[in-house]
Amino acid sequence: MPELGVNIDHIATVRQARKTFEPDPVWAAALAELGGADCITLHLREDRRHIQDRDLHILRQTVTCKLNLEMACASEVLTIACDVKPDQVTLVPERREEVTTEGGLDIAAQGHKAADIIRRLEDVGISVSLFLDPDPRQLEAAAALKVAAVELHTGQYAMASRGKAQDAELLKLQQAGKLIRQAGMTLHAGHGLTYHNVRRVAAIENMHELNIGHSIVARALMVGFEQAVREMKRLVGYGV
Ligand code: PXP
Repeated sequence: MPELGVNIDHIATVRQARKTFEPDPVWAAALAELGGADCITLHLREDRRHIQDRDLHILRQTVTCKLNLEMACASEVLTIACDVKPDQVTLVPERREEVTTEGGLDIAAQGHKAADIIRRLEDVGISVSLFLDPDPRQLEAAAALKVAAVELHTGQYAMASRGKAQDAELLKLQQAGKLIRQAGMTLHAGHGLTYHNVRRVAAIENMHELNIGHSIVARALMVGFEQAVREMKRLVGYGV
């Protein structure tokens, strides 16, 4: 059964809309754990639009499951990560003008820069995952860097209309998953996954971790955070 990583960024998005103290992502993380989360994921963005340094520091002390920090290949946040030591870092591309992470890292082009960052994270005991499109060229570059894991970007699958278009995107994810496994890396996936589209991705062979944020936070507004996580956890375990 894949593990469920619950991304709590958008709890902080609501807080930052008023620059106040509520809702607190630290509370949300505790409720996510009660709902069955296997991992708490957060993205410390350069522009600090949602998660703040304070959140990361407190969550490092309070989260009892895996703590996964998403971050760009940037020196400021690298220093913070090496100090706080989350269990896992997922390296993602970051652009200030984007609404959310729009595509995977271009690791085929940025291999040298990433290699140094990966080594520094691994030196302090942090496991590294790379957020990549299901593109064989990118996966080969990741394998050459010998990273522990690759998180496949599921955004194209999530945006495709149901039927042939979605089937084609799922096939790309399945084939990419096979390459990742053959290279000895662990398979993760995320982005745009919802209560309606998650099961086919959860059923991909050897899927180890799914990171899901927006859809869980949206449902939590209606049913509460713990319940929303519990419902997603059930779907992730159920498969197709
Ligand atoms: N995985 C990565 C690497 C991401 O950047 C994000 C978005 O922050 C997610 C998963 C979660 O995406 P969503 O909020 O669409 O579920």
